[in-house]
Amino acid sequence: MSQQSRSVAVFPGSFDPITNGHLDIVDRGLKVFGEVIIAILVNREKKPLFSIEERLELIREAYRGNERVRGDTFSGLLVDYAMKVGASVIIRGLRAISDFEYEFQMALMNRRLNPRIETVFLMAPEGYSYLSSRLVKEVFDLGGDVRGLVPPVVERRLREKSRPRRKK
Ligand code: PNS
Repeated sequence: MSQQSRSVAVFPGSFDPITNGHLDIVDRGLKVFGEVIIAILVNREKKPLFSIEERLELIREAYRGNERVRGDTFSGLLVDYAMKVGASVIIRGLRAISDFEYEFQMALMNRRLNPRIETVFLMAPEGYSYLSSRLVKEVFDLGGDVRGLVPPVVERRLREKSRPRRKK
């Protein structure tokens, strides 16, 4: 068994909702690691648009049929979750220099908490440098087009969610 096929990486975040930027990072992660677990942090945002169950379902839909990608939830320390699922790597995406400080602090804190777990940064493509779940929600809420920014299943669910309010 090759090194790659054995390695498990955790890609943590809020994923409210998952975007094409996240999908891109997962695809890059799969070039290096055997399995990527997309792990949703429970209880972070007080007022998420999508519940944890909905976010998990969207991730599972987006990766249906891909046995190397799994959706999951976690609470508590990320490094403890990583150990529990047998992952020695945390993946994070970097879109721009502005992401770096926050990511650097988290990576160093996680290293201090558990030096056996490495954080690996993967670069998002330039085309997604401005893309975030928060902006997708805002643009959609204001009537903007988010096609191409999120997987089709997410776009559909956004439309379904907003139907009672928008009456379109
Ligand atoms: O993409 P996000 O929403 O900025 O993700 C942040 C996340 C989930 C990676 C971060 O908040 C996290 O890992 N939280 C778990 C709690 C933890 O382990 N904190 C200490 C290390 S920073």
